Amino acid sequence: MAFFQLGLRRAAVQLSRPSVFCARAAFNASQQQKLVQLATPASTILKLVSQARHTQSRNYATQKVQESPLSKLATDIAKPAPSSDKSEKKSSFPETSSKSVAYWLLASAASVFGIVIFGGLTRLTESGLSITEWRPVTGSLWPGSQEEWESEFEKYRASPEFKMLNSTMNLQEFKQIYFMEWTHRLWGRFIGMSFVLPTIYFIARRRVTPRMACTLVGISALIGFQGFIGWWMVKSGLKDDLFAPGSHPRVSQYRLAAHLATAFVCYSWMLLAGLSILRTHKAINFPEQAVKNFTALQSPALRVLRGSVAALTVLIFTTVLSGALVAGLDAGLIYNEFPMMGNGLAPPKSELLDKFYSRHEDGSDLVWRNMLENPSLVQLDHRILAMTTFTAVCALVAYSRSGRVKAALPPAARKGITGLLHLVSLQVALGISTLIYMVPIPLAAAHQAGALALLTGVLVAGQRLRIPKATLAMAQRRLAQLAQQAKTQGPK
Ligand code: HEM
Repeated sequence: MAFFQLGLRRAAVQLSRPSVFCARAAFNASQQQKLVQLATPASTILKLVSQARHTQSRNYATQKVQESPLSKLATDIAKPAPSSDKSEKKSSFPETSSKSVAYWLLASAASVFGIVIFGGLTRLTESGLSITEWRPVTGSLWPGSQEEWESEFEKYRASPEFKMLNSTMNLQEFKQIYFMEWTHRLWGRFIGMSFVLPTIYFIARRRVTPRMACTLVGISALIGFQGFIGWWMVKSGLKDDLFAPGSHPRVSQYRLAAHLATAFVCYSWMLLAGLSILRTHKAINFPEQAVKNFTALQSPALRVLRGSVAALTVLIFTTVLSGALVAGLDAGLIYNEFPMMGNGLAPPKSELLDKFYSRHEDGSDLVWRNMLENPSLVQLDHRILAMTTFTAVCALVAYSRSGRVKAALPPAARKGITGLLHLVSLQVALGISTLIYMVPIPLAAAHQAGALALLTGVLVAGQRLRIPKATLAMAQRRLAQLAQQAKTQGPK
């Protein structure tokens, strides 16, 4: 068979030499017609052979385009000689990841969205420190007997939070806060299992590209890391030095911010990975539209806009982190007014840069410690960052509607940027309401959801502006392939 294929390839090369055909055609007009007929299939076979070789390893198995006998022959020729080494065939990854991977990634992102809100509720109901141990496996069991409950309650009664804040709590009340923390941890385990197991399956079954396989492994590792950060955070709220007079038993705001940031990164990564797979599939199914769209995105008029959306993503993420510090320090319970903070737009400097927070004799840490640990300045930071984010979004929308940019901007990207204005307005309204009403649980939870929604908005807008070079090349090849197929089928 291999010998036969080699012979066919040689024959195709011989037949495709135009000089031979042209010379003969010049001398023998009566044979010209026949030679042209011969030359066409030969060169077509060669083109198709190279094209079929090119596309062969790709995951175009779902192509619904009918193959002509000629292109089938070319594809057969291009097939490598059967190898005795079966492992070689098995190790081939597709060029596009399966769509089901995309849907699973988006469902996982939705689950992370849910756990972030539930985690916020756990914090707001002051339930987060009710489980005082970290037992990754056995901790998933709900205490069944009265003795088990007594034992859990006993451990909580030894914690700073119980002694200093909840000393009158009874077992029934304890069960309520325990339920919140237990469910939060169980949800975290569920996210871990429902991500890691399918990751193994999808990689083993070669349903993803090598790059996507790395992404999935990276996200799996991040989920594991998040479990560790969660416990590291809870541990900071159980420390013995929190019994000291004047200290407040709550988790470190730094660790809370790290836990929230990791959740946001995990969510973003899942979302972007899922969307990129769907985008690739769309480009393959509608290559003409995709090439048009991606080519439009290459316009120099969009370069600044693209950079601005990337910068805005960083700004939103920074605002989110500062919000976590506000939440971690309960800084939303002071200055419950807007835009004023006391008698002015900001509290007095002596209050903002309070020596109480400095730990170095020379005061070299005065500024940054106050920025991260002084509730007054932390709230002011968050206000400033939030209003900067709002202004930046307004400016971005205005810029996207200006002359050259407006003309070059594809409709999907334009809608993405306009959507940002709605999201940021809602988020600012929720933030101000949360502050004015002194952090009621529903408003604070909605404000947290708004932060994730805003992040989603900027990621989607950024993705719609990005030029995925590999996908563009794929769409171009697909387009050429369709044109070729149309050409070969045409004369019939
Ligand atoms: C771009 C706009 C904003 C973003 C992205 C944002 C983001 C966040 C985030 C992520 C949190 C932490 C939530 C948690 O961990 O529970 C937070 C908390 C908070 N934010 Fe904002 N925020 C924005 C605007 C504002 C504004 C304008 C205000 C009011 C002036 C505000 C007031 C607060 C307050 C009081 C909290 C603490 C709530 C709590 O203790 O649960 N935020 N913000």
